[in-house]
Amino acid sequence: MSTPHIEAAVGAIANTVLLPGDPLRARFVAHEVLDSPAQVNARRNMLGYTGRWHGQAVTVMGGGMGIPSTAIYVTELVRVYGVRRIIRIGTCGGIGEVNLGDVLLAQSGSTDSRFNRMQFGGHDLAGCADFSLLRNAVDAASRQGIAARVAGVFSTDCFYDGDPALLAHLRRHRICGIEMETAGLYGLAMREGFQALSILAVSDHLDNDVHMPAEQREQGLVQIARLALASAINENPG
Ligand code: HPA
Repeated sequence: MSTPHIEAAVGAIANTVLLPGDPLRARFVAHEVLDSPAQVNARRNMLGYTGRWHGQAVTVMGGGMGIPSTAIYVTELVRVYGVRRIIRIGTCGGIGEVNLGDVLLAQSGSTDSRFNRMQFGGHDLAGCADFSLLRNAVDAASRQGIAARVAGVFSTDCFYDGDPALLAHLRRHRICGIEMETAGLYGLAMREGFQALSILAVSDHLDNDVHMPAEQREQGLVQIARLALASAINENPG
């Protein structure tokens, strides 16, 4: 059986999925960090690969940009393929006291999206990370010498021309990163009962308009993927 968006056979996708937005980054990461990666999805070019890390099966698959795309893939992965933990690996814009290349472990996902409200009676959901994945990530980062910061992030639906006052609000609430997926992932995890975490490299700084070169983004992603694997696998065989 497959789904409208994923052609893999059930069983071809591991219980643990790393989810970058960009399918080409999924291919790059799978070949950098997994043993014997095999392609399991190419429908709509949303590439996915299953391989092994320290003997355990892991899938790396793209989820696209924004909450709607991410939610399609996450919902199908969880409901049809039985995925139990999803770690988003990606980049974000930095706000305030963070520097390019810093790693954020997203404790919470605030948002301007209506996605969670639509399923939460119009109320505001406090989308939050799975505690044990977050704790594992903190421990793994300190073992690996990565200065990761536990932080709130904000998922926006507007990459261009959003609320001009937004940055001030984010600073005021000590939110350190802005991206486009985490709040939806965390809401889905709470409703569907799987473990989720977003690990994000600061690729742009919104206060001073600096941007990370493409090559450094790729290296940062590999570092984050290794951190994600160490967070997900050690205590969760299979
Ligand atoms: N906005 C939204 N998403 C992002 C940004 C940004 O500035 N940088 C990286 N992902």
